[in-house]
Amino acid sequence: MPRTTADMTPADAAAALAWLVQMGADEAIGEKPVNRLAMAEEPRPHAAPRAEAPQLRAARDTVAARPNQPKPSAADTVQDARAIAAGCTSLEALAEALGRFDACPLRRTATNLCFLDGNPRAHVLLIGEAPGNDEDLQGKPFVGRSGQLLDRMLAAIGLARHAEDPARSVLITNTIFWRPPGNRKPTEAETAMCMPFVLRLVELTRPRLIVCAGATPTQRMMNLTDGILKLRGRWFDVAIGGECIPLLATLHPAYLLRQPAQKRLAWRDLLSLRERLDSLV
Ligand code: URA
Repeated sequence: MPRTTADMTPADAAAALAWLVQMGADEAIGEKPVNRLAMAEEPRPHAAPRAEAPQLRAARDTVAARPNQPKPSAADTVQDARAIAAGCTSLEALAEALGRFDACPLRRTATNLCFLDGNPRAHVLLIGEAPGNDEDLQGKPFVGRSGQLLDRMLAAIGLARHAEDPARSVLITNTIFWRPPGNRKPTEAETAMCMPFVLRLVELTRPRLIVCAGATPTQRMMNLTDGILKLRGRWFDVAIGGECIPLLATLHPAYLLRQPAQKRLAWRDLLSLRERLDSLV
């Protein structure tokens, strides 16, 4: 076992680096410490000012009209998120509002906002848990190994995230929009402040069916605490924006990569999704 980095063989060094990457370290650091949290709060010198959608102004003003007040409570943050999301009347406005939403601490450690991928007119909205390293770097959900498995699973029932036909395509998002450091599970407070944006996304895109991949999205969308092995394969009804939308709980592709034998359960869920899609009028 090497005692210092000087004792390391190239293989030891490669193994140590792979471990650090797995733990969420994705940048090499210099000799002197840099306070990146302070940097994140400073205005970016070259960032061009972005035009603000007029509908967002009122909601933002409500949130900003609290000068010199203590840090908002978790409940205030959720309320602010609701007001901001409700003020968005398009997906572009929603993405822009999220880009400015600085209440979620995860955005300070993430590289990119990771909001959506796929066809916004898709009949199916798929909600995952949280962006991982690849998603963080590309700013798109499900683009890493689990995303590749997800794409194969969807293809097996004739769906593709970028298909033009709404009946054959899928829109993909997560319960939170910034990568948790080290790929840890998002906390309830983090998902609670992002949930108003997920719900507004549903209102704006009006999917015919929702698929929740894994425990976190299913529990948050349905307000349940059961584990995914109990929830999977079940159809729920969720009321959003005056509509009742069928929601299927299924296994997360990352879990299937770890437990390939469980793919038979996921296959049953996919067939059930296919059947529901075929019965849509
Ligand atoms: N896992 C998720 O839940 N979402 C992603 O975007 C990637 C991996």
